[in-house]
Amino acid sequence: MTDWQKTDWRGKPRVQMPDYTEPDALERVEAQLAKFPPLVFAGEARRLRAHLGAASRGEAFLLQGGDCAESFEQFSANGIRDTFKIMLQMAMVLTYGAKVPVIKVGRMAGQFAKPRSAPTETIGGVELPSYRGDIINELAFDAQARVPDPARMLQAYTQAAATLNLLRAFSTGGFADMSRVHSWTLGFTDDQEVQKYSEIANRIQDTIDFMGAAGITGDTTHEFSTVEFYTSHESLLLEYEEALTRLDSTSGKWLAGSGHFLWIGDRTRQPDGAHVEFLRGVQNPIGLKCGPSMTPEDLKRLMARLNPENEPGRLTLITRFGAGQVAEHLPRLIRTVEEEGASVVWVCDPMHGNTIKSSTGYKTRPFDLVLREVREFFAIHADEGTVPGGVHFEMTGQDVTECTGGVRAVSEEDLSDRYHTACDPRLNASQSLELAFLVAEELTRLRELRRNRAAG
Ligand code: PEP
Ligand code: CO
Repeated sequence: MTDWQKTDWRGKPRVQMPDYTEPDALERVEAQLAKFPPLVFAGEARRLRAHLGAASRGEAFLLQGGDCAESFEQFSANGIRDTFKIMLQMAMVLTYGAKVPVIKVGRMAGQFAKPRSAPTETIGGVELPSYRGDIINELAFDAQARVPDPARMLQAYTQAAATLNLLRAFSTGGFADMSRVHSWTLGFTDDQEVQKYSEIANRIQDTIDFMGAAGITGDTTHEFSTVEFYTSHESLLLEYEEALTRLDSTSGKWLAGSGHFLWIGDRTRQPDGAHVEFLRGVQNPIGLKCGPSMTPEDLKRLMARLNPENEPGRLTLITRFGAGQVAEHLPRLIRTVEEEGASVVWVCDPMHGNTIKSSTGYKTRPFDLVLREVREFFAIHADEGTVPGGVHFEMTGQDVTECTGGVRAVSEEDLSDRYHTACDPRLNASQSLELAFLVAEELTRLRELRRNRAAG
């Protein structure tokens, strides 16, 4: 893009970004970040974009998941490993049902900045600025802790780099080898889910053994022994994003080097705002969150700005309406996309429209509503004859009690046991696996529907 500079967003209205109080300190951090290596490379982002292009046609399926907000305090190798494990398990379940490749994208290695519904938070008559994610300020309810500190960007970069390093090691170093399909099971997942998973894992193991016995190795071993795992986050803190944006010498195009896939939140998608301005100029595949207030007019303008060449895989629409509301909002957006002849990947985020406050005072999400929104998403796409291309979850491999329900039922009283999220409630490993089975069922049904239609 020749009419674009990575600093242009600075001239546009911005929302949800902190007002740093010390401009010199901010500039020093930006200058330092600008010297650090990018975390991802252009070829990887292009490869992911090609995979997403396949998902837009129903030839692949996106599984995107991870923390609502990554945390400095809870950063640990085991945490990363367990989220990676549960995502591999879910991907196996989905591949088995969908019979198409599953594109694995973590909300990891950069998911630090949070948009908030209110600029301040009041507890016991004391009003302080809201917590905006560890890259900006601290969760502790304390005046000093809530002051935005640019130096936190350096710590976020370091944590993102270390996270990505471990993910790359897990992806290619033997951990993700398909013959280890049984070893990804986490100790505390529900027996029923583990049982279902084991059955699939056994069949996969059988197939691998069969192929080995039949001498089918060589070119296929790479596919069996490694996975591609990509990173993503909301592109919210634009000073951080700009500093890591680099010109790719191969294509002559700009790349946001902070992660493979970046998205625009539902609160920062103003067509003439700073966030849209920034993301329109980078070549990464990008996402756009679509909540109930998205109008066909907005969507048209946003598609024109963000994907003017209509490149497959460039733009993913992540819809998040809430259970019971999909039928009201999704069809008008699908029709807009169809009228424009636009290529998009349709993805369901069944988390952000289903957040409630429990009677015990915790922010939670009833698992039933999450399941219901996913089902509604598939049903509407079946009615419209369009392609459901993926799912987007807030989840963790840890055994947390943040969302209620699931086969290993978490009650409202249980929420206080292991409520560890720095922001929104996440599905635990057991709930994540249960959800993967539901999505796999939907995908299997879709495959049958297509087959029947093709047979006339
Ligand atoms: C999020 O994905 O964490 C988020 C804030 O989503 P949304 O912009 O859809 O509210
Ligand atoms: Co969230």
